[in-house]
Amino acid sequence: MLSIPVVAAAAGLLQAAAATDVFAHFMVQNSYAYDVDQWKTDMKSAQQMGIDGFALNWIPPDCQAGLSWMPDRIGDAYTAAEQMGFSLMQSFDMSYSSCYLYWNQTYMADEISKYSGSSAAYRWNSNMLVSTYGGDQVDEYGNEFFQGLKDNMKSYNPISLAPALTQYSLGAWDNPSSSASSLMSDYPSIDGYLNWQAWPLDSDRNMTITADEAFSSAIKSNGRSGPYIMAVSPWQYKDLNDGNPLDAWVAYSDMLIAKRFESLTGDNAFQPDIIELLTWNDFCESHYLRDLPSQDDTSATDYSELGEMGNYVWGMNHAPWRIIAKYYIHWMKTGSPPAITMDQVIFWHRVHPKDALCAGGSSTGIRNANYPDDAVFAWALVKDKSTISMSIGSNQYWTFDADGSGPAMGMVPFPTDVSYDGCTPEVSIMRNGQTIETGKSSKAVSSYCEYQNFNPVVNLVGSGINSGL
Ligand SMILES: *[C@@H]1O[C@H](CO)[C@@H](O)[C@H](O)[C@H]1NC(C)=O
Ligand SMILES: *[C@@H]1O[C@H](CO)[C@@H](O)[C@H](O)[C@H]1NC(C)=O
Repeated sequence: MLSIPVVAAAAGLLQAAAATDVFAHFMVQNSYAYDVDQWKTDMKSAQQMGIDGFALNWIPPDCQAGLSWMPDRIGDAYTAAEQMGFSLMQSFDMSYSSCYLYWNQTYMADEISKYSGSSAAYRWNSNMLVSTYGGDQVDEYGNEFFQGLKDNMKSYNPISLAPALTQYSLGAWDNPSSSASSLMSDYPSIDGYLNWQAWPLDSDRNMTITADEAFSSAIKSNGRSGPYIMAVSPWQYKDLNDGNPLDAWVAYSDMLIAKRFESLTGDNAFQPDIIELLTWNDFCESHYLRDLPSQDDTSATDYSELGEMGNYVWGMNHAPWRIIAKYYIHWMKTGSPPAITMDQVIFWHRVHPKDALCAGGSSTGIRNANYPDDAVFAWALVKDKSTISMSIGSNQYWTFDADGSGPAMGMVPFPTDVSYDGCTPEVSIMRNGQTIETGKSSKAVSSYCEYQNFNPVVNLVGSGINSGL
């Protein structure tokens, strides 16, 4: 400790005093129909669960045809955020390896600086914070590109740069400390880091924070002034059905949301500078926390055409997951668990057993399809001693205990005899011998499936159903 330079130690103190800020990754591509009011609606919903800002992910506007509207939506987002007391940072998507026009430094600098006077511009050590998705695996970018961007802006609007360089995050799953030290030596241009690794990748294991610790301490021990941004996500599944096996995969996510958040709370809590929720509205990878967009009303300001991915997204509500996130975020920010004033059980499940043969979906199969358990999972937050009962088909009344001391988790496996017509999970909260709340899932689990779907539907039993959560 004694060898730490005075400046770094002072900065460390400042950061320790500030609570971890919470961002959610927002796909600007899904905001085509948005107006300022729709942005405000999304921001309000995000604020309700403790999110402080959005990281606006966008691909180069001239990468492909038809994306030139994106800068205007970002302008609307800043207008809305200023009115809502919400924060925004740019997150440039630098993962597209084939573009008509790639990102260039002049354009990026202009788009960042446009908002330097905005109260919504999120700052780190007084500089605007800028993030990315990628930038290390496309030839047009890399360390010199980032250094050039920063040098250009140094004299009039210096930025703090915390990109997500995906190959280092992938490498960190097996080799955390060597990946973190390569990142530091290969990228002297970066100030902080967003570790895009919120899922246990291609392994049948629970997520750990080993990689988070490695990157976080590498930033500090190398005297970089930027934030360590930890990624937190509830799920990962996609099936683009494009013949590329890389585009059809699931990660082991059964209880991921609660377990990942648990590492951020309690006595041994890991304390990143910022957490970034992956994601607010990336429907394609099944990790959205936002409500589903409007499907049929083409004039709705959150209308979205999901195309092929709609096969596994429409009808699969995730909104009740926000209750789980809200609980842990509050705890993380205040240092103590929130008082429990309601009875709520959030439960989620996939809609067909993993071995079901579906009519549609990727012909190459789903990578890691064996990892998820065929089960209904529940997370209960109740104000008093209760028994939570879960049933599906012939698996009736599987119970677990919950009480007012904090969340409790349970599960019930799918029955082996899931039929073509299916069976609908049901969950009850019982106290003093009486059923005080009971509810069914909005979807049945069935052996019949039109399209392979490893995206879960999330339900709520108990209070808050009509309160916007
Ligand atoms: C930089 O990118 C912008 C946005 O795509 C584009 O309009 C501009 O022509 C690009 N500039 C150069 C020099 O490529
Ligand atoms: C993940 O952890 C839970 C206990 O918290 C355990 O029941 C489960 O088997 C673990 N999953 C794997 C794949 O190891």
